[in-house]
Amino acid sequence: MELNKIYNEDCLKTMAKMPENFIDLTITSPPYDDLREYKGYSFEFEKIAKELFRVTKKGGVLVWVVNDATNKGDETGTAFKQALFFKECGFNLHDTMIWFKPNSFNFGSNSCYRQSFEYMFVFSKGKIKTTNLIKDIPTKLKGQKVKGARKHANGVRDVVPDFVVGDYKKRNNVWEIPVGTSNNGHPAIFPEKLAEDHILSWSKEGDLVYDPMLGSGTTAKMAILNNRKFIGSEISKEYCDEANKRIKPHLQQLKLIF
Ligand SMILES: C[S@@+](CC[C@H](N)C(=O)[O-])C[C@H]1O[C@@H](n2cnc3c(N)ncnc32)[C@H](O)[C@@H]1O
Repeated sequence: MELNKIYNEDCLKTMAKMPENFIDLTITSPPYDDLREYKGYSFEFEKIAKELFRVTKKGGVLVWVVNDATNKGDETGTAFKQALFFKECGFNLHDTMIWFKPNSFNFGSNSCYRQSFEYMFVFSKGKIKTTNLIKDIPTKLKGQKVKGARKHANGVRDVVPDFVVGDYKKRNNVWEIPVGTSNNGHPAIFPEKLAEDHILSWSKEGDLVYDPMLGSGTTAKMAILNNRKFIGSEISKEYCDEANKRIKPHLQQLKLIF
């Protein structure tokens, strides 16, 4: 099938064209319960989840960014139900990560704290094949030589050589990323940094990145800018046109490489 293309159709139709074990990394955020109005989508979660498992390469990753609606003071729990269904499909739940939105616009009800995060469930198909964990937390002991010691659960200590502490340690699994503002009419775009940091963490250059619900095209744009191939599906013609407009200036770069 043609790569580096946005398919204006239901993602089930796009995935039906894909062979098994095809995609290195999927990053997506589905329509959350009935939280937002999109342009006439149909969303068959269980079929989509099974297809995502089939098309993901062995060791490949799926990042599912999701939240719940609250109906009369009761959160739906859909995010958890979906996470457990992905496990039933065969995925490992590799890491339950949180996207913390410091500038969240959702104040919640009077009896709840401000709604300020979304889940980022990271699944892998078997043992994960690519991890480039981002190290951007400055260490307190940067540059200092420290005594190496490793204590096991049974209290036994290993002798480990002394080492010099590096400048940065790996990031926590709660990512603080401000919510982006939409400049192209889509109501729920990813921040570019969110898509980019997952692309850097779970794939390598030349890998194939898929977003089955591409919206305004964020995942495709960040895949291109990081030298990954991409496929996108978007059911709405209007959003698909917007996404094509957004990636057009960057596509040439990808064509030069691949
Ligand atoms: C939460 S938005 C994604 C936003 C995207 N992450 C971005 O940065 O713009 C979900 C998108 O999924 C699309 N959609 C819903 N059901 C779909 C389906 N079955 N196949 C393809 N796209 C679908 C909607 O039209 C909507 O644009």
